[in-house]
Amino acid sequence: MVESGFIITIDGPAGVGKTTLARRLAAHLNIAYLDTGAMFRAVAWKLGQDGWLKDEQTLARELKRMSFTLTGQGEESSVCLNGKALGPEIRTETIGLWASNVAKLRVVRDFLKKAQQEIGRQTSLVAEGRDMGTVVFPHARYKFFLDASAQVRARRRYLQILDLDEDDPEAQGIEDSPELKTILEQIKQRDEQDRNRAIAPLRPAKDAIVIDTSDLTLDEVFLLMKNYLNL
Ligand code: DC
Repeated sequence: MVESGFIITIDGPAGVGKTTLARRLAAHLNIAYLDTGAMFRAVAWKLGQDGWLKDEQTLARELKRMSFTLTGQGEESSVCLNGKALGPEIRTETIGLWASNVAKLRVVRDFLKKAQQEIGRQTSLVAEGRDMGTVVFPHARYKFFLDASAQVRARRRYLQILDLDEDDPEAQGIEDSPELKTILEQIKQRDEQDRNRAIAPLRPAKDAIVIDTSDLTLDEVFLLMKNYLNL
């Protein structure tokens, strides 16, 4: 049994497997899972193309009209914007890149930090993102930071898109595909922006458990996390 107000954070770069692992861990603990990347994606999507170039007053006004809530537990946890669950439209690499641009703005970060902390006050969470352990939930009970080379993450993303497992024979021949190269470039661009921005850059909290997942399967990482948590 997990007491209320119990928070585990999982931070790391794009494509490292945070979402899958956060979801599995939340299901295992029977608590909710918060995908904060989805919140940045939703804001970017709502603001529209080049939305991050709008002036601060306009941004503040548009943000005021957005209200985020979390429903459900474990695998069924779902982030809602103005009462409506977020759909697949925010999941593209283009919206990911817009989100990374929007995420540089203080007005957006302050707004989402408040919304995330409010959700954390109401329910126990596995919270996943870039600054969960460093900025939003600095007093979380456990903090993980997952990392892997950009090459490995791009390959995982591409296999996910193709709906192939790592050990599928078809997965062997994808190395030279132009799609994989494009995904690698997008991941590198997002890494560069997320790690080097002035506010809340992607980095492990001092007290985070850092796991390099480059040579591990998701099952192996999950097992490691459970061992750290003594589950
Ligand atoms: O995790 P994701 O790929 O869905 O996140 C999309 C972008 O949102 C990511 O490139 C940077 C930003 N983000 C952030 O700055 N802080 C978070 N806690 C989560 C996401």
